[in-house]
Amino acid sequence: MSKITLPVADWLDLRKPGSGIRGIFYAPPTIETARLRLRRLRMKDDRDLYAWTSDPEVARYVLWDAHRSLADTRTYIRYIRGLYRRGLPGSWGIEQKETGRVIGTIGIMAWSPDNRSIEIGYSLGRAWWGRGYAAEALQSLMDLMFREGKVNRIEAQCDVRNPASARVMEKCGMRREGILRERVFNKGEAVNVVLYAALAEDRKMTGDAERTEKD
Ligand SMILES: CC(C)(COP(=O)(O)OP(=O)(O)OC[C@H]1O[C@@H](n2cnc3c(N)ncnc32)[C@H](O)[C@@H]1OP(=O)(O)O)[C@@H](O)C(=O)NCCC(=O)NCCS
Repeated sequence: MSKITLPVADWLDLRKPGSGIRGIFYAPPTIETARLRLRRLRMKDDRDLYAWTSDPEVARYVLWDAHRSLADTRTYIRYIRGLYRRGLPGSWGIEQKETGRVIGTIGIMAWSPDNRSIEIGYSLGRAWWGRGYAAEALQSLMDLMFREGKVNRIEAQCDVRNPASARVMEKCGMRREGILRERVFNKGEAVNVVLYAALAEDRKMTGDAERTEKD
């Protein structure tokens, strides 16, 4: 089995924030898929976001609480925009091309430069579940992070009671690695999670994600 080796300079060159994974964090590129546009969040996305971030059903298995007011959503967007400015791992808005609405978010939940690995998380408004959107978004972000971010390992995890999310990971070629018992404490309870991961070397690129302009 061939091993992919990456020059360290390509991976983490702090003097050149415009390249590699740091470049992606500083200036998250817009990613086009067949039906979606993954792009930086804007303050004016607040109402689109609040329409579904306020839904407790969406928040049930994620590590954030349902937003109680538009102000919560605006605070969240401000926080994400601050991450872009500081070149830290952040989130993309998932815009439905057909309507221009931001129907979900997807982002880098954790980054381990030493291990060349990241963890991705995602959420969509309930009105858009079951149409393959989450898999389309995840696939495109994985492609970008393997190809341009030069990561070696991409992880995602979900609550064991969230099979739809596990299925999204499977559809994107991630392998189930096991159950981590009570790994997280969420909404007042210790929760078992399933860990999935894909590696650069076992990754089959789909090539359907196209990087476009910086937004
Ligand atoms: C999980 C979530 C992102 C899935 O988004 P989505 O756009 O509906 O996902 P997709 O349509 O790409 O795929 C969902 C898959 O799960 C399957 N699925 C849905 N409910 C299921 C269930 N109860 N049991 C098993 N599979 C289920 C669907 O059939 C589909 O698989 P298929 O294409 O093979 O038929 C979405 O439900 C969501 O945002 N939930 C709330 C936030 C959240 O839980 N985020 C994940 C945190 S880890």
